[in-house]
Amino acid sequence: MYSKIAGTGSQLPKRVVTNAELAKTVDTSDEWIVTRTGIKQRYLVSDGETNLDLAEGAARNAMDMAAVVASDIDFIIVGTTTPNQVFPNMGCLLQERLGAGECPALSLEAACTGFIYALSVADKFVTTGSSKCALVVGSETLSSIVDWTDRGTSVLFGDGAGAVIIKPSETPGIRSTHLSANGKYKDLLFLESGISNGFDNLKSGNDFVQMKGNEVFKVAVRTLGRIAKTALEHNNMTKEDLTWLVPHQANIRIIQAAAKMLDMPMEKVIQTVQDHGNTSAASVPLALDVGVRDGRIKPGDTVLLEAFGGGFTWGAALLDF
Ligand code: UT7
Repeated sequence: MYSKIAGTGSQLPKRVVTNAELAKTVDTSDEWIVTRTGIKQRYLVSDGETNLDLAEGAARNAMDMAAVVASDIDFIIVGTTTPNQVFPNMGCLLQERLGAGECPALSLEAACTGFIYALSVADKFVTTGSSKCALVVGSETLSSIVDWTDRGTSVLFGDGAGAVIIKPSETPGIRSTHLSANGKYKDLLFLESGISNGFDNLKSGNDFVQMKGNEVFKVAVRTLGRIAKTALEHNNMTKEDLTWLVPHQANIRIIQAAAKMLDMPMEKVIQTVQDHGNTSAASVPLALDVGVRDGRIKPGDTVLLEAFGGGFTWGAALLDF
């Protein structure tokens, strides 16, 4: 028994912010951002838009593609680092918005790897027969925890959401998922505020995402190469078996390095970083949805999803679409 993606969806906020607009308020330039990151613009929430609004939009689009209605969904999992509130969890909030039944609903925090972690959990529920129609979402509004005066981080992030519906299938399907984490890197990428640490600094505008970009970059490249190899070896597959790479969209140079390690031409890599920036847990399902909806990713294609983020956490999913 496998689980298989039956539909994909995504949702971006209304407001687009270009590099030129950012350069009006922080000491940066379109040229620097494009050369160092590949990012040209990002979408940011405004006018009361929330993470839950984006998650709902992405979920509804995936449900439409999969031709399922809310009452069909029997498991909801949301990967997010920026939930609307501490609890109820985002899965419960989304369940209520969608009008789904009393299915298990949870959220999971694994920073930028949140969607791959969530997909892996949902895959286990489907392949063990506990779920027949699972909704998996990666959704973020990182703009709310970024220091908009810090040119080192503010130019990188964007808001958005992506979702998939997965169902049981006798043919692959998700062939395997691979998750890892190493907490010894906790000080390279983090946000300190929380229930125990307190929210005062966040509220007063003195706590934000902090990142040692250079060091994160190096570990990300190394780790993504390693997890791709693990996923291929686990399935007795070679690089040549892959039709598409859908990597986490943090930096075009990290994406290029990941593609190079797999000998994949950039035409076989779904790239959205130029349009979306780094949307954390939303980046992989957003990119997947773009590739599916523009007709590049087709039924039967073999796709490697991979992500890396704060923790550090990293993960991959190898699947036949
Ligand atoms: O999604 C989770 C994982 N996150 C990532 O994967 C992010 C990984 N890191 C990166 O993508 C890159 O390290 C960054 C894009 C964050 C930075 O790129 P870099 O090539 O590593 O630049 P750098 O930090 O070494 O900075 C180079 C120079 C510095 O100036 P000096 O010291 O050489 O004079 C920075 O102050 O660029 C300067 N700089 C900027 N200049 C203009 C840093 N940010 C900016 C900016 N605009 N926005």
